[in-house]
Amino acid sequence: MEMMLRNMFQSLGKSRSANRLAKKYGLRFGAARFVAGETIKQSIDAVSGLNKDGRIATLDHLGEFVFSEEEATLSADMCVQTLDAIASSGVQSNLSLKMTSLGLDISRELCVNNMKRILNRARQYGNFVRIDMEDYAHCQVSLDIYRELREEFDNVGIVIQAYLFRTEQDIQDLSALSANLRLVKGAYKESPQVAFPEKKDVDENYKKIIQMHLKNGHYTAVASHDEAIINFTKQFVSENGISRDQFEFQMLYGICEEMQKQLVKEGYRVRVYVPYGVDWFGYFMRRLAERPANAWFVLKNMFK
Ligand code: FDA
Repeated sequence: MEMMLRNMFQSLGKSRSANRLAKKYGLRFGAARFVAGETIKQSIDAVSGLNKDGRIATLDHLGEFVFSEEEATLSADMCVQTLDAIASSGVQSNLSLKMTSLGLDISRELCVNNMKRILNRARQYGNFVRIDMEDYAHCQVSLDIYRELREEFDNVGIVIQAYLFRTEQDIQDLSALSANLRLVKGAYKESPQVAFPEKKDVDENYKKIIQMHLKNGHYTAVASHDEAIINFTKQFVSENGISRDQFEFQMLYGICEEMQKQLVKEGYRVRVYVPYGVDWFGYFMRRLAERPANAWFVLKNMFK
C-alpha cells in the first residue's frame, strides 16, 4: 500500500496536467504546510518568522515544467527578484534553485547564462546560491555546469544524493574544488542500476559521505530529518573536533519544526528550505511520496 501511494504521488508530481490544474486553484489540500506561499512577500514573511527564533533559511522559487526560453528567463528573473527581496528586507536567507527551471532541458548555454546572471546578483549582495540536485538524468550535466561556474564564482554550491552509487566518487572529485555541499538521501525514483534500492544502504552511504566531506575540511550541509543521521553527525563532529562553522543542519519548511528549534537551542546552525511560488504541486507531491502517511493529512484538508 505504502509503495503504491509512493508511486502514485511520484507520478502525479510529474504530470503536467495535474500541475496545471493545481496552479489554477491555488495552494490547496494542506500544501500550505510545506509551501510558504505563492508570492515573494509571503515567502519573506515566512523567513522573517523563522529568523526570529534563530533559524536561517534558503528560499526556493518553485518552477517546474519549463519548456521555452521565455519561461526559463522569467524563472531566472524570479530568482534575481528573490535575491533583491532578501537584501532589501534584511532577512537571513540564501537561495536554492533547480537548473531545469532555468532552461537546462532547452539548452545548456541558456541555463549557464541564467545561472551567471543570478550568481552575479548574489555576489553583489554577498549572498550564496545552492543548486538543487534533480533526477539521475540531470546529475552529470549539473555537476559539469557546477564545475564550470566554480571557475568564475565561489558563491555557489550543489547537492549530492546519498542514494546514488556514484556519490562516493563524486565527493572525492569535488574535494579538489573545496565544494560547499548539501548532502541529502535523495528524493527521486531511481533505477536499481544507479541507486541503492534499500533504505539501510542509503543511510550507510549517507553516513559515509558526511564523514568524508567533513574530514576533507569542506563546508557540509546535512539536510535530513532523520534523528539517527543528525545524532551521528553531532557525535562525529564532536569526536573529531570539527568546528560548528564548518557545517549546518538543514530541514524542509513545515517538517520536524520542534527538532529544528531544539538544534538551534543546542547552538547548531539550522537552515530551513523555504519553497514558494504558484508551481507548488510537484514539490508537494515529492513530500507526500517521501512519507505517504502525509496522505491522511491531505484527505483531512480536502474535507475541511
Ligand atoms: P527519512 O526519509 O528517513 O525521514 C526521517 C524522518 O523525517 C521520517 O521518519 C519523518 O519523521 C520525517 N520526514 C521525512 N520526510 C518527511 C515528509 N515529507 N513529511 C513529514 N515528515 C517527514 N533531495 C534531492 O533529491 N535533491 C535535493 O536537492 C534535495 N534538497 C533538499 C533540501 C533539504 C533542506 C532537505 C531537508 C531535503 C532535500 N532533499 C533533496 C530531500 C531528501 O533527499 C529526502 O528525500 C528527504 O529529506 C527525506 O529524507 P530524510 O533524510 O529526512 O530521512
